[in-house]
Amino acid sequence: KYECAIFDLDGVIVDTAKYHYFAWAALAKKLNINFTIKHNELLKGISREESLEVLLGYSGLINKFTREEKNQMMEEKNQLYLSYIEQIGRDELLEGALCLLETLRNRGVKIVLGSASKNAPLIMSKLGIETYFDVIVDGNLVKTAKPDPEVFIFGADKALVPYEKCVVFEDSIAGIQAALASNMFAVGIGTKEDMPLANEVISNLSQFDVDRFFC
Ligand code: BG6
Ligand code: MG
Repeated sequence: KYECAIFDLDGVIVDTAKYHYFAWAALAKKLNINFTIKHNELLKGISREESLEVLLGYSGLINKFTREEKNQMMEEKNQLYLSYIEQIGRDELLEGALCLLETLRNRGVKIVLGSASKNAPLIMSKLGIETYFDVIVDGNLVKTAKPDPEVFIFGADKALVPYEKCVVFEDSIAGIQAALASNMFAVGIGTKEDMPLANEVISNLSQFDVDRFFC
């Protein structure tokens, strides 16, 4: 059996992946870059900096801008994103999330957040869910973003749990890769088509069979 559950935030616990997408899409439109929801799959889970590089890469614009211009674009995207999440409340928690957190807490399972987002603390406090987590690792704390395993390794180390005793919940290709590179069990939230490498895929957290993994 496993001892620790590591959750991604955006698109797993809370329905914010769509807001990241809307904000990147607005920037892409301004820059005349063709950017669809399919392109967006590769932006999920990676850092703000890398997302911009991938976005600019779609149109061969990658070397056209100075560092300051890129910083300005990231700032603009983030301000738009912040405006979308300003009113966010518990109604934007994804199906099964709160119930699973409750169950895991009652069973004494270690609960860790492993998010790439620098806005994770803000969202957690707006939703009032920080208290469920034994360890919170977000984009402000890690040097190397997913698919690098750093975020999950750091979280498991802080929770004092061996990597092979951790189950990771992820909605992104990069996150599944990071979980597998950490020697953890990777549960994809979404579709098998989007996350073919996941150990298993469920459509939302209410589908997770807790008894199979945790005592
Ligand atoms: C991840 C999201 O959780 O965080 C990405 O899946 C996002 O879409 C990344 O780009 C970084 O987020 P932020 O809030 O630091 O810009
Ligand atoms: Mg995610």
